[in-house]
Amino acid sequence: MGSSFLVTTAIPDPGLQLLSDAGTVTVLPSPPDYETLAALCASGEYDVVLTQLRDVVDAPLLGSARVKGVSNFAVGYNNIDVDAATRHGILVGNTPGVLTDATADIAMLLILGTARRVVEADRLVRDGEFHGWEPELLLGRDVSGAVLGLAGFGRIARATARRALGFGMEILFAPRPPGHRLVSDEELGEFAGKVRQVFWDELVERSDFLSLHVPLNEQTRHLVDRAVLERMKPDAILINTARGPVVDEAALVEALRDRVIAGAGLDVFEDEPRLAPGLAELPNTVLLPHVGSATVPVRSEMARLSALNAVAIAEGRTPPHAVNT
Ligand code: DGY
Repeated sequence: MGSSFLVTTAIPDPGLQLLSDAGTVTVLPSPPDYETLAALCASGEYDVVLTQLRDVVDAPLLGSARVKGVSNFAVGYNNIDVDAATRHGILVGNTPGVLTDATADIAMLLILGTARRVVEADRLVRDGEFHGWEPELLLGRDVSGAVLGLAGFGRIARATARRALGFGMEILFAPRPPGHRLVSDEELGEFAGKVRQVFWDELVERSDFLSLHVPLNEQTRHLVDRAVLERMKPDAILINTARGPVVDEAALVEALRDRVIAGAGLDVFEDEPRLAPGLAELPNTVLLPHVGSATVPVRSEMARLSALNAVAIAEGRTPPHAVNT
C-alpha cells in the first residue's frame, strides 16, 4: 500500500502529481482551522501533512499528531514548532533556494515603488487627476547613491544586494540582529569590496532604505519597534519581505503618521491577512499581499520540493530539504 498525504491547501500540479504517484492524496477544499488540522493530524490516516504558512503547527498539535512528517510549502517555517516536532520524532521539510530571486525582485520593487511613489501615481491617473506633465508632480527620491541597509545577509538579502548594486546603491548589511556571528571576508565571496558589514545600530541610523531579511524567531520578533524607528533617518523607508511580526506594525503606523520615517514597502504583515488599523490609509506605503514567491515557475518548484520532501519522509528517507533530522 502506498503512502497517504494530507494537503491543507491545493498546491500547483507538479507537486500534486508527485504525491499521487507515491500514494493517496487528500486535498482539503479550504484551509483548515486549527482544531480541524489537529484532528486530521491525530487521526492516524496520514503519513505526512503538507502545510502552508497559515497553518499553525504548534507543540500541542504535534504532541497528539500521528504523522511521520510535516512538509511546509515555504522556505520559512515559523508556523511550525520545530523543537516540538523533533521531540516527537516528526520530520519537518521546507523549500529553500527556489524563491530567492523572486523574493529579491519584490524587495527591489518595493524599494523602487516607495522611492518613486508608484501607488500614489497610479491612483492619481486612475482618479482622472493627471492633467498633463508638471515640473513638481509626485517628486520622489533617487535610489542611485542611496544607502540600502540589509538586516540579515542570507540568500534573499544577497540577491537583493546584487540587484541594488545594479541600481547604483551603496550597500550596508548587519549579518543578523545584535549578537549574531559576523560574516568573514571569505564568506562575502562576490560581494567582497562591494558591500560593507556594520553593526545593527549603524545599519539603522545610516540606511535610506532598511530592508529586512531575517527569519522570524524570538530574537527577531519586533526587531523593528518604536525605538528602532525613532533612530532611523526621518526620510528613511522600511522594506519588509521577510515576516510581518519582525516589525511592530502598530508602532510603524504611528511612526509613518508622525513622519518619524518617510515610508514603508511591505509584502508581509504582523497578523496576516489583517492590517494594523490605519496602515491602509497612509499614502506613503506600498502594500502587497505576501507575493514574494508568487511566480508560476517558483510556485511550481516549491510544490515539487515540498512533495519530494513529503514522499521521502513517508518512505522513511531523509527529505532533500530537512529542517530537523
Ligand atoms: C516563504 O516561502 O517563506 C514565503 O514567505 C512564501 O513563499
